[in-house]
Amino acid sequence: MGPQHYSHPHTKEWAAKVASFDGYVFVTPEYNHSTSGVLKNAIDFLYTEWNNKAAGFVSYGATGGTRAVEHLRLIMAELQVADVRHQVALSLFTDFGGDGDLVPDAHHGPTLTGMLDEVIAWADALATLRAPIDGHGEVTGNRETATEAPLVTIEGRRPSLGSNAAEASGAVTGFVEELQAGLDSSDADVYDRHFATDLSWCSPYGQTLAGFAHLSAAHRSLMASATAPPSRYEVVQVLAPPGVALAHVRRQALPPDDPAGFSEMALYALIEHDGQWWLAAGQNTPVTDKPS
Ligand SMILES: Cc1cc2nc3c(=O)[nH]c(=O)nc-3n(C[C@H](O)[C@H](O)[C@H](O)COP(=O)(O)O)c2cc1C
Repeated sequence: MGPQHYSHPHTKEWAAKVASFDGYVFVTPEYNHSTSGVLKNAIDFLYTEWNNKAAGFVSYGATGGTRAVEHLRLIMAELQVADVRHQVALSLFTDFGGDGDLVPDAHHGPTLTGMLDEVIAWADALATLRAPIDGHGEVTGNRETATEAPLVTIEGRRPSLGSNAAEASGAVTGFVEELQAGLDSSDADVYDRHFATDLSWCSPYGQTLAGFAHLSAAHRSLMASATAPPSRYEVVQVLAPPGVALAHVRRQALPPDDPAGFSEMALYALIEHDGQWWLAAGQNTPVTDKPS
């Protein structure tokens, strides 16, 4: 949801104030087992200004106002505010003087510190979510202060895409067995059986081929001459985000020290389509001696 457009001056002021903070401490009484209508109304005036911020609570009531805070926590979820665990619950009976002055018991001190520390930590942690992302994938600071704000790196948002999911690993193993069988029998049809129609392929020598028809013709011609020296395929690593298998596969010349042999490392991208895995792209890199 983008920035809101408010018409009333008081809403604009309230929005600017709330937007200017990274985290909040709500102080609430308890009315009929909930927070006050006034506070709920003030919260409801805004939305995006609250998003991806952190909040802690100080409550007061006959039982410390804890039920008011429980309701506020539900409201925070809808506002995309991270509510912290520690909360200060002041009793109307023991934390206030006869004239209503606040005289908190000493045990609230560490709780207050803990709550404030958590708010600061979570507000900081959510900074990358609050910052808009530019067209290059970099996370920038607040749009209005972008020229002064330091660039925040993408690091905090880097995802883990998943690795070695059983299904994808099984698919890669089956695919590589087909390559091996095709190579061993010099049968391009077996080799290319699960190559997608619109695949993209790069040979060990930097030649690119787009589409199954071209690659298949090239493989048929190569295998008809049966010049490929023996080698063994081995799955090195599979990274498996949903529906995709990215596999590093080693093709090792046999015997390994045969000077006429050919070894390569391939990166194969397989895509799941209607329950079947298909090669979408292949990148083959010859393995040569490392320059000394
Ligand atoms: C209508 C009403 C409902 C209340 N409900 C509760 C309640 O459910 N639990 C509680 O602990 N105190 C309850 N109280 C007591 C208030 O929490 C207490 O009066 C408190 O001082 C109100 O804070 P405020 O004067 O800052 O608004 C209620 C008071 C009123 C007037």
